[in-house]
Amino acid sequence: GKDGYRHYMEKELHEHPVVIGQTLQRLIDPATRRVVMPELPFDLAAIPRAVVTACGSAFYAGMIGRYWIEQYARLPVDIDVASEMRYRNPPLAQGGLGLLISQSGETADTLAALRGMRAVGQHIVSVLNVEQSTMARESDAVLGTVAGPEISVASTKAFTAQLSVLACLTIALARARGLMDGAMEEAMVTALLDLPSKATEVFERHDEIRRMATIVAEARDVLYLGRGAMFPVALEGALKLKEITYIHAEAYAAGEMKHGPISLIDSSVPVVATVPSGPLFDKTLSNLQEARARGGRLLVFTDMEGAPRLREIAECVVAIPTVDEFVAPILQTIPVQILAYEVALLKGTDVDQPRNLAKSVTVE
Ligand code: F6R
Repeated sequence: GKDGYRHYMEKELHEHPVVIGQTLQRLIDPATRRVVMPELPFDLAAIPRAVVTACGSAFYAGMIGRYWIEQYARLPVDIDVASEMRYRNPPLAQGGLGLLISQSGETADTLAALRGMRAVGQHIVSVLNVEQSTMARESDAVLGTVAGPEISVASTKAFTAQLSVLACLTIALARARGLMDGAMEEAMVTALLDLPSKATEVFERHDEIRRMATIVAEARDVLYLGRGAMFPVALEGALKLKEITYIHAEAYAAGEMKHGPISLIDSSVPVVATVPSGPLFDKTLSNLQEARARGGRLLVFTDMEGAPRLREIAECVVAIPTVDEFVAPILQTIPVQILAYEVALLKGTDVDQPRNLAKSVTVE
């Protein structure tokens, strides 16, 4: 049941802290503060490159995974949505890593991409929530997300669970490739293990998110912006808004705004940006100033450290705890999903069963 929540989506949003914790527990030894991967039938250190594929939200999780794996493990990663990947026939070297991500493990396009990768000699690792699924049976290894059943058609908790797994895989790959010493691993693992309590604190920002929702609910179009690992967070926010509120939303890498979408901006198109403190903060801030100068209403997700400077230009600022740059996309996803939920409440849409959508897309 819904445990007293109004919708499954609301219940599942509140499960983020627990789900992140349970998922990490499987992959981290708390005593040594090290990542412990399940036995793999191949050598992580020998992987020449990785190819990541998935659909929808799972694909956005994969985009963040690519960002991490390239940055920390220095392994080249190719990524595409499964419906494109399965027909692209990319030239893949034998012994590469085929990394699939799926909540259900039954998505037709992702399954077809898995089979295509296997046929050309990739080692298949799947990040799955349903461990008794078709994709699980056809993979060389399964990395489980411990999210429990996700009933809401719009995915929420599965996403942060997928990111938790991908973060651990990144650490394991970086260590295998000789790029992660014990101190660095301990710092990254500590940042991960702190996430459940930090995620709980995000819910203390509910009133500010609700205020933001009243502005978004009035709009016909919304622009989401983010840079680096926050770009997929923006994509996730825009998808969730479209899915459950039927408001048109688009996400752009913040630096692309001036190459076209800036012409959309006026006071009727709110700009929702995810801008935590960190190396990309100033760059994104200057993109927001450009939007502001054109009359855009800025609604910003940031952290405690980034908040003071954003309050000078933004109409709404939601500041969640400041965390290590590595784990920030996991935490920043939560308020963005809550925003979509709050807008859906204001619009009175069928949150758990949006029109035209099915939980598991088993046809092409
Ligand atoms: C978005 C959403 C969909 C799924 C996509 C993949 O809220 O739910 O975009 O993420 O259909 O589904 P799985 O993860 O089951 O392969």
